[in-house]
Amino acid sequence: MLFDTHVHLNADQYEDDLQEVIDRAREKKVENMVVVGFDEKTIKRAIEIAEKYDFIYASIGWHPVDAIDMKDEHLQWIEELAAHPKVVALGEMGLDYHWDKSPKEVQKEVFRRQIQLARKVKLPIIIHNRDATEDVVTILREEHVEEVGGIMHCFTGSIEVAKQCIDMNMHISFGGPVTFKNAKKPKEVAAEIPIDKLLIETDCPYLTPHPYRGKRNEPAYVSYVAEQIAELKGISYDELASKTTENAKKLFGINL
Ligand code: NI
Repeated sequence: MLFDTHVHLNADQYEDDLQEVIDRAREKKVENMVVVGFDEKTIKRAIEIAEKYDFIYASIGWHPVDAIDMKDEHLQWIEELAAHPKVVALGEMGLDYHWDKSPKEVQKEVFRRQIQLARKVKLPIIIHNRDATEDVVTILREEHVEEVGGIMHCFTGSIEVAKQCIDMNMHISFGGPVTFKNAKKPKEVAAEIPIDKLLIETDCPYLTPHPYRGKRNEPAYVSYVAEQIAELKGISYDELASKTTENAKKLFGINL
C-alpha cells in the first residue's frame, strides 16, 4: 500500500480523465492521496474530489507565488474549511523566490499567518520552498511549527537542512526528482534520514519520475519514487511502502 502525500488532481490537466487516473493509482496499490489546493479555484476542486472519494483527502492553503492576491477573507474561508472532515492539512504554503510576482515581505507575512492558523486549528502544514531555504527554516522556527509539524514537500535540500527540519517535527517528502540519474543530493538525503520521518509523493501533474520524465505525472507513478528510495535505503519495496503509508496516516490523523 502506498500513500501519495501530494497530488494536484484538482488541476485542469485531469479534467478529461480523472477517473482513469485514479483507477490506475488504485491498481498500483496507491491506497490514499492528498489533493493540494493553493488558491480559490484549486481549493474548491480539492474539496470536491475529497468529498467524492473516501480514500482521497484534501490540504488547503495559499501559494507563495500568489501571496499578493490573498485577502483576509481568503484566510477566514480557509479557517472555516479547515473544520471539514476531509481536510487533513494546511498548505501548500511557504516561500518562492524564483518568481517575483509577490514581494518577499508579502510572501513572508502570508506564510506566517498560515502557520499561525494551522496552530489554531491544529493541523499539520505542507511547505513549498523554492530558492528560499534560509528564510523558510527561520520562519518555521519563529512560528513554532513543531506544535503541529508537517511536510517539506518535494525536498531537494541538503542533509543539514533536512535534519534542522526534522528537529522541528517536520517530515521530509520526496517526489520524482529523487529518481533522476543526476539527483545526487536528494538520493543522499533519502538514504540517510530516519525512515519514520520519510514520506513519498508525486506532486502530479508536475515533476514526473524516471522513466516517464517529461510526460504528465500521475499518482500511480509514486511507485517509482518508492522503488528508488527502497533501493537507496537497502530495504524491501513492501517495507518502504508500509512504513511511509503509516507515517502519512499518523501525521494526517487518518485511522491506521
Ligand atoms: Ni504542489
